[in-house]
Amino acid sequence: MTTAAAGAADIEVRIVRDEDSEEWQRALSNGFLSPARTGEAAAEWWRPRFAPGRILGAFDGARCVGTFHSLEFALTVPGGATLPVDGVAGVTVATSHRRRGILRRMMELDLERARERGDVFALLNAAQYGIYGRFGFGPAIRYTGVEIEVARSRGPRPGVGELPVGAAIEPLTMAELVKAGPDLYDRFRVRQPGAISRSPLWWALETGQAEPSAGGRATEPIAVAYRDPGGRITGLLTYRADNAFSGGDPHTTVTVVDHFALDRTAEAALWRHALSIEWAGRLVVPHLAPDDPLPRLLVNPRAALPLRRSHEDHWLRVLDAPRAFAARTYEAPGRTVFEVADAQGYVAGRWSLETAADGTGVLTRTDDPAELALDAGALSSVYLGDATVPHLEAAGLITELTPGAAHRAGLQLRTSFAPWCPVTF
Ligand SMILES: CC(C)(COP(=O)(O)OP(=O)(O)OC[C@H]1O[C@@H](n2cnc3c(N)ncnc32)[C@H](O)[C@@H]1OP(=O)(O)O)[C@@H](O)C(=O)NCCC(=O)NCCS
Repeated sequence: MTTAAAGAADIEVRIVRDEDSEEWQRALSNGFLSPARTGEAAAEWWRPRFAPGRILGAFDGARCVGTFHSLEFALTVPGGATLPVDGVAGVTVATSHRRRGILRRMMELDLERARERGDVFALLNAAQYGIYGRFGFGPAIRYTGVEIEVARSRGPRPGVGELPVGAAIEPLTMAELVKAGPDLYDRFRVRQPGAISRSPLWWALETGQAEPSAGGRATEPIAVAYRDPGGRITGLLTYRADNAFSGGDPHTTVTVVDHFALDRTAEAALWRHALSIEWAGRLVVPHLAPDDPLPRLLVNPRAALPLRRSHEDHWLRVLDAPRAFAARTYEAPGRTVFEVADAQGYVAGRWSLETAADGTGVLTRTDDPAELALDAGALSSVYLGDATVPHLEAAGLITELTPGAAHRAGLQLRTSFAPWCPVTF
């Protein structure tokens, strides 16, 4: 029987089956305060998303009161290796059943299953800052956004983004985008630490062939490609425009939907193209790496105004520390001993990180005295190079037990560029 007062023991947390689809979706929609899908719309939403064993639910009798979705990704780490990741999404608990440990039970079950599968990390986009630190997640990938006043920017500096002889910017149809995009993205993402793989469903959503999860009508963006002098497509840009006029003149806001390129030449050529769209008064780029060079390509970088909603985006949770730290590369040699606290236990204990001049590194168990003390969330925050050890030490999130250890570990873990992930899920 369903009772709003059911205790934790009355709630069953289990893997969701195909036949749970409508009940689970209703709980998901309610949890995210959105209208529920039913009938054919619900079936259509479920079909590409249902993967046996990857969706969890909490049930009070027949009523679904908690949802949890695990997605399969590969994450690129500094140096270009890719590792399996448990992407956590669709996390909700019914308002009537909150703060009784239901999220905790779903999370603990999911992390255990991820570890058994061999996933090296879990990754999520956190709706609220305070939820996931207790489960060993730390903010690890940020993004920024800019709004460029096109005329005031005076475009890219002379020579920046000019097409090399034989290169071209070409319009693409959605069919062409779906054909060229996934392979090109796979080549891009292994060059971009922090990037994750994209599913066929992601491309269907990107090209307006599938209904957006949050509701609303699917629309096709405008797409262009950069073709290099050898005839290969090496960059893509998609955008939408509002076609606004001001005082009779066009003053359109062009908003970039997706952008990536295999090299800086293609990237700059696509930005030059975007800044020369005839009616554009404003170019909004909502999702950029925090240290993306775009503003500095402009004659007047002050015309690139930061968007207020930029923030930390992805939270990482290291599940298999030796595998994670052996896979990435390092810019400085050194050795530092960490004492890691982990409530779930996966990365708890004393570890030595040894990095060599050739860029390789290993993390091994040690009994040597600890030089730095931190928790699993802080370890995850510094792993991809976004947060630095000295910065977290200054914030009181890492404790320095041996003078100079934070600086040394900072040099070991630092990267020249911040990680960036162009996929939010
Ligand atoms: C966030 C949410 C899933 C939490 O579910 P829940 O079942 O109430 O969480 P639990 O009872 O398992 O709480 C586990 C721990 O997290 C803490 N916690 C839960 N929600 C929190 C929040 N919003 N902010 C800070 N801490 C939170 C609890 O206090 C508890 O702490 P403790 O075990 O260390 O004492 C639920 O409130 C919800 O559905 N919110 C709206 C949708 C949402 O924001 N989902 C997250 C999308 S990323």
